[in-house]
Amino acid sequence: MNQARVDIAPMTNERLFDATYKVVAGGSSSNMRNLGLQTPLVVDRSAGCRIWDVEDNELIDVNMGYGPHLFGYGDPDVLGVVAERLRLGAVTGIPHRLDHEAGELIAASVPTIEQVRFANSGTEAIASALRLARLITGRTLVVTFEGHYHGWSETVLRKAAITNSGEAPTGAVAGAPGMIPEALAHTLQLPWNDPTLLDEAFAAYGDRIAAVILEPVCGNAGVVHAQPGFLEQVADLTSRNGALLVFDEVITGFRVALGGAQELFSMRPDLTVISKVLGGGFPVAAFGGSTEIMAPLARNEAFHAGVFSGNHAAVNAAVAMLGKLRRNLPVYNALEVNGSYLEQRLAEVFGAAGRAVRIARCGSIMSVALLTRPQCSNAAFDPAVPLIDFAAHRGLQLLCQEAGLYFHPNPLEPWFLSTAHTRDELDIVVSTIEQSLARL
Ligand SMILES: Cc1ncc(COP(=O)(O)O)c(C=O)c1O
Repeated sequence: MNQARVDIAPMTNERLFDATYKVVAGGSSSNMRNLGLQTPLVVDRSAGCRIWDVEDNELIDVNMGYGPHLFGYGDPDVLGVVAERLRLGAVTGIPHRLDHEAGELIAASVPTIEQVRFANSGTEAIASALRLARLITGRTLVVTFEGHYHGWSETVLRKAAITNSGEAPTGAVAGAPGMIPEALAHTLQLPWNDPTLLDEAFAAYGDRIAAVILEPVCGNAGVVHAQPGFLEQVADLTSRNGALLVFDEVITGFRVALGGAQELFSMRPDLTVISKVLGGGFPVAAFGGSTEIMAPLARNEAFHAGVFSGNHAAVNAAVAMLGKLRRNLPVYNALEVNGSYLEQRLAEVFGAAGRAVRIARCGSIMSVALLTRPQCSNAAFDPAVPLIDFAAHRGLQLLCQEAGLYFHPNPLEPWFLSTAHTRDELDIVVSTIEQSLARL
């Protein structure tokens, strides 16, 4: 891969960010990314688990571009292949020989997928999957859970359970001004891990519910596992009420196991959405299920399209990534071992510094959040989030960023480990946190 620097020196992070801000609204193309770096950080290049800013400062990254790079940034086995594909033609708008290979690899890896459709982002794939669920069931109501993020399309974007600044929104609020308020009438948001309310919702609306969509491990609000039996309860209620179960495995797909969270927890969703690790850093997403579930798409009754959906470069990235994963299955065990090591070392460091912290993890997905006081139970979503000390977390983030470690300033954004995070890097992460805590 070409690691050459873009020639923009002698720009500083601050000057370049200000210049960008003038021509890119908000300074970046995602509101998630505009959420409050206190000191501007403008990236020049990345490799392995490191990024370099435009002042040539080197940082270890545990945000890792929100999760796609399981083998680290710039993996030549994936992105090198894509680079060659770009030369050979990335979009012809005609079926490509690689489509078959990618479809077979996904079907062989994800237990419940027989057929897929490709898309460019998780948001798109989820919007299409939910539309398909609504078409199949002839119903419109979709159940979502607090804290779970399913992209920014009209019916699923609600205000997060708590905002970055720590203020809690009131009730179910559209996630962004300008959205069609009535669209939210077709989703019902429930608390995560509340079996009683789930039962009640199905008792009241069971014949109106088209689908339940969830992150099998809630990565977008602190890596919160489902309580024992909760996923099974959702599966049972959906199947008994003629609704579809949709697993949003945008984060967990190919990350927690080759077959994703459904393999890890032995679950059988009707539809599955995958992205992130699927492309190894190249933008690609897909949704899929049984041939029967996908039949309305095959018959052209359900609509899903896109000039770049299933473009040859994206599909080639998926083929390269899945091929590599299938040749390297011990990678999941290695990531679990390293994740467990980091979790333990961080717990020691925060404990020694006398700081209340919540650390949660599923394999290589972690959440680290400073709390205002110790939490009684680590498991449930609700008790943890109100205790998060957003201000202290941002203070720690800033000190770490200055000291060469980057994690997201929003404590609800997960950390992602890659195979490029060796013990040496993890020890640097721990010592940087230790020293920054002492200065906090
Ligand atoms: C669980 C989950 N679903 C959906 C999405 C949306 O994916 P995208 O940002 O590619 O549209 C994300 C993005 O982070 C996600 O974490």
